[in-house]
Amino acid sequence: MKNLHRRFPCITDMEASAARRMPGFVHDYLVGGLGRESSVRRNMASFDTIELMPRYLSDAPSPDLSVTLFGKRFEAPFGVAPLGLAGLLWPGCEVPLAQAAKAHNIPHVLSTFANRSMETIGPEVGDNGWFQFYPPNDPVMELDMLERARCAGYQTLVLTVDVPAPTRRERDIRNGMSVPPILDARTLLQIATHPRWARHVLRHGIPDFENLSPYFPKGVSLKESAAFVGRVMTGHLSTERVRRLRDAWNGKMLIKGVLDATEAEAYIALGTNGLIVSNHGGRQLDAAPTAVSVLPGIRSKLGPSVPILADGGIRSGLDIARMLALGADAVLLGRPFIFASAAIGVEGGDHLMTILKAELSGAMAQLGCRTVAELPSFLHSSH
Ligand SMILES: Cc1cc2nc3c(=O)[nH]c(=O)nc-3n(C[C@H](O)[C@H](O)[C@H](O)COP(=O)(O)O)c2cc1C
Repeated sequence: MKNLHRRFPCITDMEASAARRMPGFVHDYLVGGLGRESSVRRNMASFDTIELMPRYLSDAPSPDLSVTLFGKRFEAPFGVAPLGLAGLLWPGCEVPLAQAAKAHNIPHVLSTFANRSMETIGPEVGDNGWFQFYPPNDPVMELDMLERARCAGYQTLVLTVDVPAPTRRERDIRNGMSVPPILDARTLLQIATHPRWARHVLRHGIPDFENLSPYFPKGVSLKESAAFVGRVMTGHLSTERVRRLRDAWNGKMLIKGVLDATEAEAYIALGTNGLIVSNHGGRQLDAAPTAVSVLPGIRSKLGPSVPILADGGIRSGLDIARMLALGADAVLLGRPFIFASAAIGVEGGDHLMTILKAELSGAMAQLGCRTVAELPSFLHSSH
């Protein structure tokens, strides 16, 4: 596509275009939170007050964005967050996003609830891929999924702990958003008036939970399979459960969804290798603190050597710099990768990654900061 940089110089432009291209019920599922959605708003607003102090006397050559996590060097300190139902949000986006992450040499996290399977995405993404795991209640299925992830090439598991129970997302309730979507007159009209999205569904097929479909009873409908997923994938992950999963997984394990510093310490004591500080994009508990507000406390409790990632509301390379200044080693972005895919198509992920690298590099050059590890020293001291 010509003039991508002029048409979509930042995430805001992609977000606006995505909003026009997606049927309302799908867009609501992507951008929504729950309750008053204050957590979604606070995630983004939390960056506004983080000031970084530029210094001009230093002799800074062009900034080095690379970061080493779990023994692997990545080109830049950001990655693609796991997004359930990504293939419904923008049909066909999942393989290109994984390929772009590999090409840019950044982390890519595949959701348990993705619409493309770990067997499809794993080989595309190689050792840039991490598998996000919602452990099922069935121990046989649990071990089988871990074994499949290993066979698909995944060496890093991201265990998400912040979905202990289903949530009530009012936008989705209002829209009848379910799997499969309730096709009433309103939904059908939304689909009919968004032909580009509808064409993508036709081309890529009705999205299925490909990581889970091997376990569905034979011959069940999509609706019954969604009910099956709801039954087997809920519950708190107790200390005992995390310990068992840690023993069962023979690779690196990160915990995603940590907000409390004491719990952060407990997860590391259980033998996990790193954390993703996250409130799930404001989609679980509207009163949850933002990653920005709890990250400094978690970093100071755990010390400098534990790998900590963070996500929620990051919408620019400058926001990445701010999160790193607060103590993260790297960050993830979720919704923006769908905005980019919907706005631009298969090149969307690549374009967004290019923009984020340019923005981060530009911000570091302004600060006089040479490496991402130096960013905390640029945090303005009022914080
Ligand atoms: C539509 C959608 C689906 C998501 N699905 C998952 C998921 O399956 N597993 C998971 O760990 N997090 C999931 N998340 C949370 C994201 O991984 C990430 O924490 C969040 O989107 C970050 O906030 P951001 O979208 O503002 O960047 C989802 C988020 C969205 C918006």
